Amino acid sequence: GGLRVSDPAFGNTAAVTSRITFIDGGKGILRYRGYPIEVLAEKSSFLESAYLLVYGELPTAPKLAAWEAEVMHHTFLHSDIERLLSSFNDNAHPMSVLASSFAALGALAPEANPSLQGQNIYANAAKGDKAALRLMDKQIYRCIGKAPILAAAAYRVRQGRPFNRPPSGLSYAGTFLYCLDQLNEREYKPNPIIERAIDRLWLVHADHVNASTASVLQVSSSLVDPYSAVAAGVASLYGPLHGGAAEAVVRQLLLIGSPENVPEYLEKVKRKERTLSGFGHRVYRTTDPRAHIVRKCADEVFSVVGRSPLLDTALTLRDAALKDPYFIERKLAPNVDFFSGVIYYAIGLPLDLFCVMFAVPRVSGWLATWRQSMLDPKKRIWRPKQLYVGEGEREYVPIGERT
Ligand code: CMC
Repeated sequence: GGLRVSDPAFGNTAAVTSRITFIDGGKGILRYRGYPIEVLAEKSSFLESAYLLVYGELPTAPKLAAWEAEVMHHTFLHSDIERLLSSFNDNAHPMSVLASSFAALGALAPEANPSLQGQNIYANAAKGDKAALRLMDKQIYRCIGKAPILAAAAYRVRQGRPFNRPPSGLSYAGTFLYCLDQLNEREYKPNPIIERAIDRLWLVHADHVNASTASVLQVSSSLVDPYSAVAAGVASLYGPLHGGAAEAVVRQLLLIGSPENVPEYLEKVKRKERTLSGFGHRVYRTTDPRAHIVRKCADEVFSVVGRSPLLDTALTLRDAALKDPYFIERKLAPNVDFFSGVIYYAIGLPLDLFCVMFAVPRVSGWLATWRQSMLDPKKRIWRPKQLYVGEGEREYVPIGERT
């Protein structure tokens, strides 16, 4: 046929046009809807930035209050989902639990699935139908509202502890902290520094263009409900080449043990016996702007929980690598996950919850991309082509005659 070019692993293909997140890997720039990530991390909150990602503009005060109220209103879990969560063993990986829970949420929202409705909600929304748009927004509130509660529940499954129901009056990150680890204390107030640090970490992890975003786009292009698409995003993020880096960084720091062992470890990396986890990025070739924000967050968190001994090893490793010609030549610098794992570890989160801490905020970025693509009147199902390189037509040989 006419097919000549193949582009394995999307190395060269821009599969969509987007107005959401701008990345200049050479210069180390990341902007949500035109706003630099550094400015948002300092001045905005996770939920305000999630609104910005989804709707394209910073909200006015009344719009932000309404959005926060809608998201927080949708934090409760249906008893069917609680039952599902309770059915997992205490060794279930929290990312498996999260992906399964999102897929199951779709079963509770048949109104979001065109094939169950006999009408194309998403085509109607693209034509400006207000009821269809409201229906889409409701799914967005639900997914963003439930993500941290599901994450906290996945943690408590691990410990065999009963789930905490979200209380009223706490922030988005504060609600997560309450559901994660608190007894049912009526007067619970999260530590404001830890609460702000989680909120800021979630803000910088809210959107990017990568494998999980592509998975969400691919799956939702068939017009399935957004819960199924988010479940696909979680599944994609779960893989060790994607969302596993923060955990790998901490395992690496524990393995190195203390700063004096750093030179020996770097020699192993240079002999290609190991990868330097938390360094390098496919797109950010000089600096990952998120890494600087996360580093600042680390100092704030340590002012509350005490300085983690891992930090000394991390700083020695970073400084030694940044001075070493091997890493300079290859333009390898710390990425967003170099310090985020150290923060989560210092707060006391188990290693396998780190990927979940990445997934929770990314739900907003996935949904922003989902909404953008559903409202595109020219949307089509994503159907890749292939270059077939297998056998030509063959004759079927009965089983008794095969050699
Ligand atoms: N440690 C040691 N060497 C490295 C590393 C590293 N972390 N990253 C790249 N290199 C070397 C690589 O071996 C190659 O060397 P050579 O020219 O001698 O063959 C050179 O640097 C160029 O690398 P590349 O092949 O262009 O890198 P890539 O774009 O294929 O890989 C990466 C990007 C992020 C997968 C890789 O840097 C890596 O494995 N980093 C560690 C894992 C990590 O921290 N991932 C988190 C990324 S940020 C969050 C996310 O996106 O999920």
